[in-house]
Amino acid sequence: MNVPKHVAIIMDGNGRWATLRGKKRSEGHLEGSKTLEKLALHAVDMGVKVLSVYAFSTDNFKRSQEEVDYLMNLLVKYFNTKFEKINKKGIKVVVSGRKDNLREDVLKAIKDIEEKTKDNNVGILNICFNYGGQEEIIDGAIKLAKDINEGLDIKNFKREDFYKYLYHSLPPIDLLIRTGGEQRVSNFMLYQMSYSEFYFTNTYFPDFGKSEFNKALFNYENRDRRFGGINEQENK
Ligand code: IPE
Ligand code: IPE
Ligand code: MG
Repeated sequence: MNVPKHVAIIMDGNGRWATLRGKKRSEGHLEGSKTLEKLALHAVDMGVKVLSVYAFSTDNFKRSQEEVDYLMNLLVKYFNTKFEKINKKGIKVVVSGRKDNLREDVLKAIKDIEEKTKDNNVGILNICFNYGGQEEIIDGAIKLAKDINEGLDIKNFKREDFYKYLYHSLPPIDLLIRTGGEQRVSNFMLYQMSYSEFYFTNTYFPDFGKSEFNKALFNYENRDRRFGGINEQENK
């Protein structure tokens, strides 16, 4: 099986999942967090090396204070409890996003989990939190500008060289999944998705379990990735 090395998921539809069931939006987020735990463990079993997930965007601060607080608390709770299994599995957790605007306890939870799992090497779970794709590029450009100021020679600077200026130097995204029915990228990992295959599903994230994930992997298998070149087989 041709397994994508880096899978990214825009975990959308938690709110609608809950509303449909007459529950509060927060219950959708809680259910979504359980789905994430299952998927993180499963992805490694399937041979995926890096799983990036969009958990909170810089624009999600536009939501009610109650919902923002709930999502912040959920991250802290999650990191402090649920991550035991992920740690045991050998998964390294990294968090991508801006650190300003975040509460002290949230920052501490992030620091702790990154520290606790830093030597794990079976797979990487990249949690994008207070994350924006354009912001990541801007922050990277600022770091690069500093290096240039300090004498870095950029005569032969290539697009591959920019990865180390991003929040974490992760490989390009092979497969991008968006649950919840919308077909847009909502400022997710713009630099890393330049040649990603896209997979959109109407399934709301809490219902996006292992078998749904496998469906996306099987779908990816049949994609013809040309990267601007020509498929020699098809052109014979
Ligand atoms: C995705 O679900 C999770 C976050 C954005 C935090 P939503 O909360 O966007 O759910 P919908 O799109 O309103 O259903
Ligand atoms: C994208 O979902 C962000 C996350 C999944 C965390 P949104 O629900 O915020 O995106 P829009 O508003 O539909 O574009
Ligand atoms: Mg949404």
